[in-house]
Amino acid sequence: MTAAIILAAGRGERMGANVDKAFLSLGPKPLVAYSLLAFESCAEIGAVVLVVRRERLSAAAEICRMFGISKLLQIVPGGSSRQESVCAGLAALPPEATLVAIHDSARPLVTPPLISATLKSAHDKGSGVAAHKVVDTVKVVERGTVVSATLDRSKLWASETPQAFRTKLIRRAYDAVAEAGQTVTDDAGALEFIGEKVHLVEWKKPNLKVTVAEDLVIAGELLRI
Ligand code: CTP
Ligand code: MG
Repeated sequence: MTAAIILAAGRGERMGANVDKAFLSLGPKPLVAYSLLAFESCAEIGAVVLVVRRERLSAAAEICRMFGISKLLQIVPGGSSRQESVCAGLAALPPEATLVAIHDSARPLVTPPLISATLKSAHDKGSGVAAHKVVDTVKVVERGTVVSATLDRSKLWASETPQAFRTKLIRRAYDAVAEAGQTVTDDAGALEFIGEKVHLVEWKKPNLKVTVAEDLVIAGELLRI
């Protein structure tokens, strides 16, 4: 069986709003509902674990009920970092979930074909991470605003979510990261930590992460709502 972990336990501090980002309205629906509905309509997905802040457990249950998320298995409280929230989600997966797609609810443009593409890569190769080639020239800055180097753009990719894995592999990776007291900012980073190959899945359509308030407007335009 294939499961999904949808992360919505952040505080959305960069939004500047006094409410969790995942629960902000994007047109007619809360942000998190777009991801829930995409995973609901992806045929391969059998179960969804939703991770939210403890004080949002009942609000999240209400959203899942309202939008008819029949694949919802459990809603679990997250932790103080994304990494802790992912681990809370992994701990809630049923034993028969051999593949898992981990997704940030901050990316509402996720679609069933994108989820399927990452899952196929995870099934065939162990991992499948949604990614875009970087279009900007990226500068390294050590101090202030003075550039110390320019990276070779032809080698740069931006990793996004969904990030799908064989469940055993991502569990082993996060266990090793935790054991070593390390921090990773995405799930692929946990695989890198144990020396396992990360396979990117190029996605050419937008997969914007809603980070600041203006992103909600852009996401609305991209979703044509
Ligand atoms: N996330 C989470 N638990 C945390 C932190 C983040 O589940 N403790 C989730 C967020 O809900 C989001 C995703 O990880 O879907 C990516 O994080 P980010 O975009 O940084 O969201 P926030 O942490 O909520 O925003 P900010 O960093 O501005 O506070
Ligand atoms: Mg954050």
